[in-house]
Amino acid sequence: MLIFNNQEALSAHLSSIRKPQTTTGFVPTMGALHDGHLSLLSESVAQNDITVISIFVNPTQFNNADDLAKYPRTLDADVAKIETVSADILVYAPSVNDIYGSDTVSGQFDFDGLENQMEGKFRPGHFDGVGTIVKFLFEIVEPTNAYFGEKDFQQLQIVRKLVSKHGIPVKVVLCPIFREPNGLAMSSRNERLAPETREKAAVIYKALTTAKQLFGTKSVRQLRDLVTEMVEQNGTFRLEYFEIADEATLVPVEKTENNVKYRAFIAVFANDIRLIDTVSLN
Ligand code: PAF
Repeated sequence: MLIFNNQEALSAHLSSIRKPQTTTGFVPTMGALHDGHLSLLSESVAQNDITVISIFVNPTQFNNADDLAKYPRTLDADVAKIETVSADILVYAPSVNDIYGSDTVSGQFDFDGLENQMEGKFRPGHFDGVGTIVKFLFEIVEPTNAYFGEKDFQQLQIVRKLVSKHGIPVKVVLCPIFREPNGLAMSSRNERLAPETREKAAVIYKALTTAKQLFGTKSVRQLRDLVTEMVEQNGTFRLEYFEIADEATLVPVEKTENNVKYRAFIAVFANDIRLIDTVSLN
């Protein structure tokens, strides 16, 4: 398996193997790979001639230094997992210096307001960091197709906006959420949960599916109260937000309308570990 630590080497290799009709699939990640990531890789391998995965814990998208410091970094284990999908996948695992040089700062982006809702409200600057790294990686890898997981649905809409506003010729592919057997959405952060908390975290998806079942029969406020009670009942979790939002604009609503697609979004803390999840409602 080829692992590249700097962009020049990766670009040179890609130029040497690409022919005019070659398609390249790209899976950007921050490592600590789980089955959800592997499903994105499998999708990419099935649909493209070349697949590239990036493994880079991007400092500019963290608004909490402790979260950045504690983010799991498991390159050797990640490479072993990638190999189970295909030994032909190209791995780009750069240093911070390779990406940012001596100036580790974000660019500034206007995503037409998508960046101000939910994650953007609670993680100031987060989407500037995501926009910076994703644009940068797209420029290096020049993918035909890029694969993103549904769990980070707001991020997916922002990447779609990035691509359309900057005229980047890449197709953004949405891949479904992978869940642990108890329903917890797979996330690299799950590694940091104590086993008992990880089991109890099933309540997050239970609350979302309850909201989905009751959607249309109860008001948004009633659903928020119910979800809050479910999530916080045993004292292990603290709800940061539960919103029902228009899937296209991501604007949270208190009243729903016909002919609009809605989605529930949730962010929950287990001590200092932050978990997010989402389900489509209609
Ligand atoms: O979803 C992630 O893992 C990250 O936000 C991404 C897209 C790899 C950018 O750092």
